[in-house]
Amino acid sequence: MKELIELIEEEVRSGFTKAGLDASYGRVTVSNRPDLCEYQCNGAMAAAKQYHKAPIIMAQAVAENLEKSSIFSKVEAVKPGFLNFNLSASFLADYANGMASSERFGLDKPEKPLTIILDYGGPNVAKPLHVGHLRSAVIGEAIKRIAKFMGHTVIGDVHLGDWGLQMGLIITELHERKPDLIYFDENYTGDYPEEPPFTISELEEIYPLASGKSKEDEAYHEKALEATKELQNGRRGYQALLKHIMDVSVTDLKKNYQKLNVSFDLWKGESDAAPYIPDMVEDMKKNGYAHESEGALVVDVKEDSDKKEIPPCMILKSDGAALYNTTDLATMIWRVNDYHPDRIAYVVDKRQELHFIQCFRAARKCGIVPDSCGLDFIGFGTMNGKDGKPFKTREGGVMRLSTLIADVDQKMLLKIKENNELPEEEAKETADIVGLAAIKYGDLSNQPSKDYIFDVDKFTSFEGNTGPYILYTIVRMKSIIRKYEGIGRKLEKRQILAPETESERSLLLALAPFQDAVRAAYNENMPNRICQYIYELANAFNHFYHETKILSCEDKEKQDGYMSLLELTSEVLECGIDLLGFSAPERM
Ligand code: ARG
Repeated sequence: MKELIELIEEEVRSGFTKAGLDASYGRVTVSNRPDLCEYQCNGAMAAAKQYHKAPIIMAQAVAENLEKSSIFSKVEAVKPGFLNFNLSASFLADYANGMASSERFGLDKPEKPLTIILDYGGPNVAKPLHVGHLRSAVIGEAIKRIAKFMGHTVIGDVHLGDWGLQMGLIITELHERKPDLIYFDENYTGDYPEEPPFTISELEEIYPLASGKSKEDEAYHEKALEATKELQNGRRGYQALLKHIMDVSVTDLKKNYQKLNVSFDLWKGESDAAPYIPDMVEDMKKNGYAHESEGALVVDVKEDSDKKEIPPCMILKSDGAALYNTTDLATMIWRVNDYHPDRIAYVVDKRQELHFIQCFRAARKCGIVPDSCGLDFIGFGTMNGKDGKPFKTREGGVMRLSTLIADVDQKMLLKIKENNELPEEEAKETADIVGLAAIKYGDLSNQPSKDYIFDVDKFTSFEGNTGPYILYTIVRMKSIIRKYEGIGRKLEKRQILAPETESERSLLLALAPFQDAVRAAYNENMPNRICQYIYELANAFNHFYHETKILSCEDKEKQDGYMSLLELTSEVLECGIDLLGFSAPERM
């Protein structure tokens, strides 16, 4: 099934062609004056230059050609040369019935589905998730779902931070505390114990402590650097410790991501790139891509057209240690080898943009990624507190993600209890579901690249452009469906009728551009396009609901028509929130 705007545009373009004008002028947009019309075309004005004719004359000719069109109920040429359109009631109903009877509401699969590797989440092992990791997980999950829904193959990779100084720090601190552990005995050649020598809480306590110590104590810092290097060079005991750190930490991370309704196909980390580094470096040297600079190995990546200085991409430090660039480049090697992706996209804080510019350029220059594979940086803005500064705890520290979620859920629970007398257990479950929607929608309704203010009061409100408002609307529909079935009625066949009232018509107008919204969200990497669509749809439904007697409607055919429209709307809304990565409760 075609996109709504495409169908309208095709029709308008044919009107231009019939008038002897170039079809390219028939571009249509949603009206910016909804009081005057639903869709508009300004092409006649643009055509004036080419044809040296008054725009209004051309607009009138086009309008005349479209008079009999079954798509439009009104075609108007307005001075100085606008074309205004309203859609016909039968066309709107047909389109909605088409959506109702097609898979994925009429969104066709692509002719050639792409394989996309999506790098998001990016947590660091042994450090608890903090609010800084929220956006990557939430936006990444939505982008993954949208691309899958479009019909592409998407492989989500969490890309754990497991290869840097942080590992050396943990090993160093463990050594201070438990020097007798077998892992530190260099002469030991046997198997290492299965049980990790620490718990997740210990691990989470060790890392920040070690990190603090290393900033103040030069000798400690040196030890940690040395441990990192030995680990990277394959020291057995350290590798065994790394495995324990990974196991304990990943189990905990999985639990936390699950709470966020976020999942990954691959749980690879920076360390998985390590085996590819030596050959990669050799190749860069051999082919003259990399050169030494002050003892370090670098690849020049600046280009003549650069407006600002792009420094060389550093591959190895002077002590031979690998860097963030190195693991990202070596990661591309296995991604290309194992998955042959058409595109690799990274959902990362936009403050890391320079790093990705350097890596992408180095990857192209050194032939690591073929030209046929796109490389996309989807940089997101900062989540700020109400004071406009990066979100912090009341004490000014970094807030744990789990604390933030618990706070929101608590707030939600109070509201739900105020609203409804639900059994305690159900009230809690509902609060978690609605709380997640509040957080995710609050984030996703903003353009990813923009900073935004995390405003708990606003996000948890049942009114306005919020997750809970969308859920409330869905719950309302579910309740109407239950009542309808409660009076012994059931839809034999879904049949949406041509709209008769303004509110019914507005609902159909809001419903029809579903595909348009999903495609835009996919093409632009902007899940906020879907938020905007479902918000307008929820508003249109609530307006229709207030204006229309649905359950007490005497005319059964009409009632079934209303119910058909309601059911389709609720399915589309549920699909929309599923694409965003949250769901609706039964009651709230
Ligand atoms: N672990 C990194 C951080 O916390 C994010 C990783 C992003 N992905 C990547 N391929 N570099 O900043």
